[in-house]
Amino acid sequence: MLTKLAPLALACALAAHTAAAQTATPLPRLESREGHHALIVDGAPFVMLGGQVNNSSNYAEPLKTAWPVLDAMHANTVEVPIAWEQVEPVEGQYDLSFLQDLLDQARAHDKRVVLLWFGSWKNTSPSYAPAWVKLNNARFPRMKDQQGKDHGVLSPLFPATMEADRRAFVKVMDYLRDHDRQNTVIMVQPENETGSYRVPRDFSAEGNRLFAQQIPAALARKTGKSGTWTQAFGAQAPRAFNTWYVASYVNALAQAGKTVKALPMYVNASLAGPSNVPDPTGVASGGPQWDVLDIWKAAAPAIDLAAPDIYDRASGNVIQYLDKYTRPDNALMVPEIGNAKEFARFFWPTIGRGGIGFSPFGMDASGYFNYPLGARALDSKELAAFALPYATVSSIMRDWAEIAATRPTWGTAKPDNGSDQSVTLGAWTITASWGQWQFGMKDWTWIKADPAPWASEPVGGMAVAQLSDHEYLVMGDHVRVSFSPADKRDDGMVVSVEEGTFRDGKWVTARVWNGDQTDYGLNLIDRPQVLKVTTGFYSGKPR
Ligand code: DGJ
Repeated sequence: MLTKLAPLALACALAAHTAAAQTATPLPRLESREGHHALIVDGAPFVMLGGQVNNSSNYAEPLKTAWPVLDAMHANTVEVPIAWEQVEPVEGQYDLSFLQDLLDQARAHDKRVVLLWFGSWKNTSPSYAPAWVKLNNARFPRMKDQQGKDHGVLSPLFPATMEADRRAFVKVMDYLRDHDRQNTVIMVQPENETGSYRVPRDFSAEGNRLFAQQIPAALARKTGKSGTWTQAFGAQAPRAFNTWYVASYVNALAQAGKTVKALPMYVNASLAGPSNVPDPTGVASGGPQWDVLDIWKAAAPAIDLAAPDIYDRASGNVIQYLDKYTRPDNALMVPEIGNAKEFARFFWPTIGRGGIGFSPFGMDASGYFNYPLGARALDSKELAAFALPYATVSSIMRDWAEIAATRPTWGTAKPDNGSDQSVTLGAWTITASWGQWQFGMKDWTWIKADPAPWASEPVGGMAVAQLSDHEYLVMGDHVRVSFSPADKRDDGMVVSVEEGTFRDGKWVTARVWNGDQTDYGLNLIDRPQVLKVTTGFYSGKPR
């Protein structure tokens, strides 16, 4: 039904098709059409309701602590690292036993897996590379700074490093091809938060030689720029240069991995602000920041999407990040977001933008917490904040994913200033307001009421899909949703509000909301509810 975005996607899909013929289930793939994206899993659109485990939970025992957490939050997918140092502790000797443990445990707990390859870059550092790589600077050179001193980060410019990393990564993909015919692993992230802090490019002799050259033809075509790096990119040239070489390196891994098993592959970004063009020395230079996505797209066609790791608690910034990574050539996915409860509300604007997945970070019970990025502790309140939207969407996950791939959708979260948020879809404006009881209006003076307990909390969000000219699907929590005619005509009405679900792709009504349940907007507070709203105009006249 959906067509492919680009020739490479088509080639991947053909490869996927060939592989699918030999496997038990069709290969997962990403499909895009007219600005909509879908992650296809087992042959149908899928929304990743994810949780990422802590960094050192990539061993059989700590991994066991993740499943109760993931079950409690109604996750369908776990994101788990596998480290180059554990796969190839001795050069040329491979140990894939953790991967088998991961597949076994995930299948036993009915979860899909997004596999994170911690190789040459982990938060820019080579900390997860094997000791035989880390300790051999002659063979695997680090970047040089402006003074010619070694920087901690591996240089992306030396083929020996890329080839060694790629060899190990391909072993992982070989293992998946041979031992994961049912595609428990649905996506792969080669490397983690690439780039380098403080030193924007490799200032070695080789780095300087390459930096003096003309920019690559593919980059010139994509950006319309020409000349040397400095001529083309000015003050951002060192960063543009490093971005090109890091992206090309990661692309080499992804391409080789996809030749073995053509799973969707993505990269994640350490973010440096939602609207400023970053100082090249104050950002993970080379990583897939929103402002260098075109460089990544040109250098890394084997990467399906770039994704933001969100630890910023300012609601306006989060929304800007979501907008920046939602593009016709880039499906939105949030592979990491803080696990404090205030981050849960951003699930709604993510899926409302057609996002294919969402995953708070640190979702296991290994006892580690990355506060102040995330929660101080994963207590039941934090978990419940993620569990509610996940439970809501998981009840109709396949249907929502199919709808989001084809129909207009929108989503929002309570902003820090608590202001109403609205959208116009078709003939109707849909408004989300926050912090109200289910009954009554906040401007009533004839009766006194205490504020709702959640009124001062950073909770609340909603997503809506326009199903037809007059029908809308609505989900959310801690929100009041109101419908009004977009052109303010006075004969508009909500004709019916059905709470229900989809069964075999067909809407099934469990009850009709009316009276108190609809007189003061549609109040979705603390339980998973899916509504189908039918609107109409009683004068019968079309708009
Ligand atoms: C972002 C990284 O991608 C994660 O692996 C982790 O280090 C978090 N930052 C911080 O907990």
